[in-house]
Amino acid sequence: MPLAQAQVRPAQTPDVIFVPTPQDVVDEMLRIADVKKGDVLYDLGSGDGRIPVTAAKRFGVRAVGIDIDPERIREANENARRNGVTDLVRFRQEDLFKADFREATVVTLYLLPDLNVRLRPKLWAELKPGTRIVSHQFEMGTWKPEKVVEVNGRTVYFWTVPAREKKSP
Ligand SMILES: C[S@@+](CC[C@H](N)C(=O)[O-])C[C@H]1O[C@@H](n2cnc3c(N)ncnc32)[C@H](O)[C@@H]1O
Repeated sequence: MPLAQAQVRPAQTPDVIFVPTPQDVVDEMLRIADVKKGDVLYDLGSGDGRIPVTAAKRFGVRAVGIDIDPERIREANENARRNGVTDLVRFRQEDLFKADFREATVVTLYLLPDLNVRLRPKLWAELKPGTRIVSHQFEMGTWKPEKVVEVNGRTVYFWTVPAREKKSP
């Protein structure tokens, strides 16, 4: 395999392919999460970076995108450059199931139902109580959302990480 090709191939097969969230749904995800100055937003499986880039551009927050695919990381960095937010946004090529995202105050997801459920124990164990979680389109199994909003045929779900003494549902 030529070296150039090897360099853009993910070290691990992505658990879900890249499908971007439409911009009106991105806007609603940030609205429902009440993103504001001082927040630190993490998009787990960040694709072309549109959620972190929008959060940084609109609200001036620090934002991190994690994606396993180096091609997505390249696109996301280019997106941040185009939008003038490279001082606020970072993209890390990592497996979201192994990544350290404990500093997040807002987490955004557009994965798959089974991936959300697989991720849930890590979210509960590692995120600070009060951290807001927003998922485009997919629920989190038995963990019932606090808010559900429809946007042009898409659904956005919202949860808050509870205090530690609560047991994961
Ligand atoms: C459906 S796309 C969502 C992209 C973006 N969050 C959005 O809403 O526009 C899912 C992304 O997750 C990434 N991904 C899949 N498995 C992953 C894993 N284990 N760790 C990190 N990223 C992963 C894919 O490369 C893809 O870019």
